[in-house]
Amino acid sequence: MSLTKLSRSIEGKVALVTGAASGMGQATAELFAEQGAKVALTDVSIEAQEHVVERITSAGYVARGWHLDVTDASQIEACVVEVAEHFGGLDILVNNAGIGAGGPIDADDYEAIWERGINTMLTAHVRMIRAALPYLRQSDSARIVNIASTEGLGATKRISAYTTAKTGVIGLTRSLAVEFGTEGITVNCICPGPIRTGMTANIDEANKQEYARRRVALKRYAVPEEVAHMTLSLVLPAASFVTGVALPVDGGLTIKNA
Ligand code: NAI
Repeated sequence: MSLTKLSRSIEGKVALVTGAASGMGQATAELFAEQGAKVALTDVSIEAQEHVVERITSAGYVARGWHLDVTDASQIEACVVEVAEHFGGLDILVNNAGIGAGGPIDADDYEAIWERGINTMLTAHVRMIRAALPYLRQSDSARIVNIASTEGLGATKRISAYTTAKTGVIGLTRSLAVEFGTEGITVNCICPGPIRTGMTANIDEANKQEYARRRVALKRYAVPEEVAHMTLSLVLPAASFVTGVALPVDGGLTIKNA
């Protein structure tokens, strides 16, 4: 039996990444562009994102930035249409934008934390997918990757809104993987462990190292690029039989007992 030569290239594919101004979203956008994709960077923080777009395009790759607050349903709808019209379709959606939604259940402002966390990291994914679906259906290798967290596989105290959102992302991923099964649209999610990004920038170095030493098999935080490469693997045309997976990219955090 000979190989059919499934493609390991995303050259010419159109990819939309949310939260692309920083951290893992930025690394994903840069890596996808370097691999020849046409990348739509979207973020609520437009200024930071412009620098990223500038860096990508000045290196000769194809990218454009859009302002998008993923908590705003009307912005999502308009942005996805604009991106698809600009680049002539949409093949890859990476739902990455996120915030720290911490606070104990009895906090005075818990309702606000809950609403912001769930809206940004779960409802937004649903809306992005619904808006992207007509275009993904036109693609011959449509891919959705949701960025969840190891918080979706376990739990840390006092961040229940965050943990609930991330657990929901895993459920959404599995559910839609089954729902889109006959259409060839794959839906997967990545569960990053501790990564050096904007989100973890305020954890001081000593605490980072102590946490990594105790909890992570590889004894360190990762850099965003290490997650971006796994996202790339899941969106390759050759990743055609992988769907509904929640892939830990966590240096062994979730398998480490002692
Ligand atoms: P980051 O803070 O560096 O980047 C997050 C980006 O999302 C920022 O550019 C921010 O402006 C954008 N964003 C926030 N709210 C938004 C909104 N309403 N609309 C559009 N964009 C918005 O953080 P990081 O770590 O790169 O986060 C990416 C994803 O990874 C998040 O979903 C986060 O929950 C997840 N994650 C992060 C981990 C870590 O250790 N850093 C671990 C596990 C998951």
